[in-house]
Amino acid sequence: MVIGSDLATLVKQAVDIVEVVGQVVPLRRAGSRHVGLCPFHHEKTPSFYIDSSSQMYHCFGCGAGGDVLSFVMKHQNFSFVDAIQYLADRYHINLPKKEPLNPESARIAEAFKSEQEQLYKVMELATDFFSRQLHLPEIGKPARDYLHKRALPPALVEAERLGYSLPQWDGLLKHLQGCKIDLDLGTKAGLLARSSRDQARSYDRFRNRVIFPIRDERRRVVAFGGRILTSEAQDEPKYLNSPENPVFHKGRMLYQFARAQEACRQVRQVVLVEGYMDLLAFHAQGFHRVVATLGTALTPHQVRLLARHVDEVVLAYDGDEAGERAMLRALPLFLQEELAVSCIRFPEQMDPDDFLRTKGLAAFEELVQRREDLGAYAIRKGLENWDGTMTGKAKVLSELQPICQSTRQPVLKAEYLRLIADRLSVSETVIRRQLQHEAHHPNRPQAAPRPPAPLGFAQSYSLEENILRMMIQHPDMIGKVKESGALGCFQETGLKSIAEVVTQTTYPPDGEFRPSAVHDRLLESELKECFTRLLLDPFDLSDPPLQLQDWLDAVLKRGRKQRWLDLREALRQAEQSGDPVQIRKLLAEIQGLNVSQKRPADTRDHV
Ligand code: UTP
Ligand code: MN
Repeated sequence: MVIGSDLATLVKQAVDIVEVVGQVVPLRRAGSRHVGLCPFHHEKTPSFYIDSSSQMYHCFGCGAGGDVLSFVMKHQNFSFVDAIQYLADRYHINLPKKEPLNPESARIAEAFKSEQEQLYKVMELATDFFSRQLHLPEIGKPARDYLHKRALPPALVEAERLGYSLPQWDGLLKHLQGCKIDLDLGTKAGLLARSSRDQARSYDRFRNRVIFPIRDERRRVVAFGGRILTSEAQDEPKYLNSPENPVFHKGRMLYQFARAQEACRQVRQVVLVEGYMDLLAFHAQGFHRVVATLGTALTPHQVRLLARHVDEVVLAYDGDEAGERAMLRALPLFLQEELAVSCIRFPEQMDPDDFLRTKGLAAFEELVQRREDLGAYAIRKGLENWDGTMTGKAKVLSELQPICQSTRQPVLKAEYLRLIADRLSVSETVIRRQLQHEAHHPNRPQAAPRPPAPLGFAQSYSLEENILRMMIQHPDMIGKVKESGALGCFQETGLKSIAEVVTQTTYPPDGEFRPSAVHDRLLESELKECFTRLLLDPFDLSDPPLQLQDWLDAVLKRGRKQRWLDLREALRQAEQSGDPVQIRKLLAEIQGLNVSQKRPADTRDHV
């Protein structure tokens, strides 16, 4: 099918998704696919796959998936139209002037926009709801007392619209129902969770917590953080954050970024903390040049975001060892971006909130005056590990080599070398030479070659998913699935609608099948992501047609059984109401079902 000279198609044909993604994360080849660390969530082993032939990607870690346009939209937080423009600019594609989006693309753009708008709306509703609970005279008292104890002034609580979720399972659920909000939307927004035993049952995700609305750079609420009220609730996490949703990407946003951005216009320096409470302790004292991560480790994205607005980041992490480790882990990200970074250490294992509450803002500002460059801090810590021996010198140097090598600024580098030379009592020239040597012959054992990524991440697929996956990956079998009638027995409506689009988007006689066309026609992001998952997870089957036949038979058999149960139930009701015509009709159908059931059983069910 030709979509015409549609702008989206034009762009998609001109750019290679592997190249676009490759500029964001390093990729390596894995058979017909490319794999790398997912840019949309924090992970240590790569689960982000790209299939270059269909130009689709899928992350088996966080479930994100789509084509190059949806990648750019998600990665840059762009609209559909902006993503087209961005890629066209970047790859010098001449877009025909003033040509409107074709109806297909316009529909996609519209659906995406309306999904986002619905999410903003439900977040707003929830913010109101939580905030009202907090202010209910009797009911909200425990949470108000808690906030008072944490020294958050009422004006700040009001301005931030902090809230309270009661210790119950269906407070928000009922409220959303009352507002005629689709529960699927509540689930997608991460406000409701689905029971693992009964998927049809939803419950409130946030219970018995103080609620912190999280806003995006345009100050729209896109997620929530919640702190548990009672310290004795051992099996619940202290802080709970919304899961990612189409408008909330934890690794790409920072708590209170919008406020800080404003405050950093004068002084281009920002303080980075790890907790919501830490951050609000600053706001409580009128200090707004501060942002916080959202319950995950700092990401390259967040550093890049900061680099656009400030010249220096001051890390103010917890005074304990965990805080120190987290700080040191963040160093390479700043070196990579060439963004100046320094750190302050709080005494006696305090966190920023403890410190501000007991010592005040002026004391904090004194600490900032005495801040230390993070690279220098890391070097100092590394040098503390020197055991005083000759061989120990080489070892320490080898450990510090990566920091020195990735420091591009000459002034800093010279400073680091001086620190090292002083401490190890070796001339700077020798240090320089040793570091160069290290760069070429690392003293440390080389990282073991990574094992090939496991196929399919041991995901288990349902019968229906397997059939659909077969259709997508072996399009020559689509005809067979269609003829079998198995699609009519699909119970999962999502899978069924994807399968329908797949059959409609395939054109006999040569069975041309373009995954991107299917992707474009699926309007809900969940279906799109389900589709890319099934597309990107390859099969390892010895005999696909035989395997497919088994799956089809199983689905058909299940379908007949269901039909039989339905008819029996209908018959029971007809008998109750004494409707002879209906009874005869149903009996005939039941009989017919028994007959037709025999045929496939004769030929295949030879167990
Ligand atoms: P901390 O445990 O250091 O919290 O976690 P805190 O800010 O000192 O909390 P209070 O003072 O006891 O209230 C720091 C951050 O790590 C994330 C949250 O974002 C928190 O703000 N976190 C912590 C979680 O996401 N889940 C947890 O269970 C704990
Ligand atoms: Mn704390």
